[in-house]
Amino acid sequence: MPVYLPLSLDFEARHIVLSTWIDHMPFGYDIVAAIRPRLIVELGTYSGLSFFTFCQAVQEHGIESTAYAVDTWEGDEHTGAYDEEIFSKVRDHAREHYRGFTYLLRMRFDDAVAQYDDESIELLHIDGLHTYQAVKHDFDTWYPKLAPGGILLFHDIEARLPDYGVRNLWDELQQQHDTFTFRHGYGLGVLRKPGGRSLTELEQLLFEGNDETSERLRRLYVHLSKSHEAVRRDKRLRKELELRQAQDQG
Ligand SMILES: C[S@@+](CC[C@H](N)C(=O)[O-])C[C@H]1O[C@@H](n2cnc3c(N)ncnc32)[C@H](O)[C@@H]1O
Repeated sequence: MPVYLPLSLDFEARHIVLSTWIDHMPFGYDIVAAIRPRLIVELGTYSGLSFFTFCQAVQEHGIESTAYAVDTWEGDEHTGAYDEEIFSKVRDHAREHYRGFTYLLRMRFDDAVAQYDDESIELLHIDGLHTYQAVKHDFDTWYPKLAPGGILLFHDIEARLPDYGVRNLWDELQQQHDTFTFRHGYGLGVLRKPGGRSLTELEQLLFEGNDETSERLRRLYVHLSKSHEAVRRDKRLRKELELRQAQDQG
């Protein structure tokens, strides 16, 4: 097996917030750096952890890309309704760091889909409502928009929560498509549409590996994700400490 050195080894996330997506940040960064997608669309952005991971990779690797985040920023049955502040923070962060190539589409997924040509999206991330019916609908509606050789990511394929059905859809999709399954955290499914350019090194490991290389790749990303969780905790603790020190001095 060739030595694979993930570019996320040098990734210091600029935007870390509480989200179960934290387990997949290194891979999210690496897949963008590897495939250099010209068009990225995310369905379900919330506080922006996954979206800004993609954006940081675009910026740090000089990729000519346009990235769209689609969300009502009103919440759904699983996230619950949330505060307007979530959207304001995402908007401000996008403006401050990723102006010029990022667009926030505050609307329903179904209302955004007509904006994209068929077979145009090179990286699509589906992370909206997680019932079987909703993700199946999102997949069926958006798959035609994925470019040949494009990559589709599904979050929560391992989530065993009441009313979550991404697992069931993922079981079906694995029978019909080239896929790779990360099981850690709440799980991330990676699906590649046939055709398009030749496979990058990372894609060869994902889609042409054997049991041993696949297991090693999974272990590598479990390991890398732990460091991001550690950074998040460290930041929070430092903030709490600063606050306490300020209170003690005041
Ligand atoms: C699980 S959260 C996204 C998490 C995010 N990717 C992260 O990194 O933390 C799901 C989001 O999808 C949005 N959403 C769900 N269904 C939607 C729909 N049909 N149209 C627009 N937004 C939707 C919700 O408002 C919510 O913010």
